Amino acid sequence: MPIASTSSHLVNASPRVTIVGVGKVGSTLAQQIGEKNLADVVLLDEVEGLPQGLALDLMEAKGISQHSRQFIGTTNYADSAGSDIVVITAGQPRKPGMSRDALLKTNAKIVVETATNAIAHSPNAILIVVTNPLDVMTYLAWQATQLSAQRVIGMAGVLDSARFQAFVAMELGVSIADVRAIVLGSHGDLMVPLPRYSTVNGVPITELINATTIERLVERTRKGGAEIVELMQTGSAYFAPAASTFLMVEAILLNQFRLVPVATYLQGEYGLHDIFIGVPTLLGASGVEKILELQLTDTEIAALHLAAQEVRQNVEQARSLVKIN
Ligand code: 2OP
Repeated sequence: MPIASTSSHLVNASPRVTIVGVGKVGSTLAQQIGEKNLADVVLLDEVEGLPQGLALDLMEAKGISQHSRQFIGTTNYADSAGSDIVVITAGQPRKPGMSRDALLKTNAKIVVETATNAIAHSPNAILIVVTNPLDVMTYLAWQATQLSAQRVIGMAGVLDSARFQAFVAMELGVSIADVRAIVLGSHGDLMVPLPRYSTVNGVPITELINATTIERLVERTRKGGAEIVELMQTGSAYFAPAASTFLMVEAILLNQFRLVPVATYLQGEYGLHDIFIGVPTLLGASGVEKILELQLTDTEIAALHLAAQEVRQNVEQARSLVKIN
């Protein structure tokens, strides 16, 4: 006979995060959330058996990692009801021979369907989008779910900033704990790393690294995802993407007001309207608590607008390919 009922209110008292799409990013994120004892995790995927198997594996690992969170694996959206956060990682990576349009169409369809289904069961959740092309998918998820823009957030700037931080730390041979970096714009070749606002314990990197070297690190950051795909050949990055998503989940669940760049909905900030793109925000229990408007140089603002232009074109294209109610 069980000592305690698992259906008691104590189980419901735990925050709940649903992860839709349990590939490498989704399953690594689930593990981190459990091991940091942050929330119960619903692993949701369309492939029957996969989320159930991963959830069971994670439950068995608890005996060693010693935390008290639950993992539920399912293909049924009803099992994710009442989630505080929904993370969408579902989607396809680009395959050889696949056109950009085809990827856009495939992932747009997946993101619209999964986000709509998940939010139908968790109408009070905050939605974090991870699927690429990130800024476009975040916009579509927002439109499809009709959540308030404050509660729809795209994960990319945290990851791109983490990569820039890593490259700065490696270049200078300093502890990464002292390196802060900030990358704005879209998650792609047109992203906008900001060396002026990147520091080693408060010292701008522009005082520590020469301009040519900074440009090399900026370029490596822009191509950070591709560099890993090139090395792995059979997959793409997942540790840093999962860690970046974890930071956002934690900031929201613990109401931390972390200042991080994420894809958020702009309504005039930085001279941009009706677009999701990476800018510095405060993340807390309500999602985007505040958008911070930095004083950018003409060159930086032009780069941000160029990135926005590309995102806007892709949103229009995706909307012509996929029906959104
Ligand atoms: C990355 O940048 C694929 O967006 C993913 O690694």
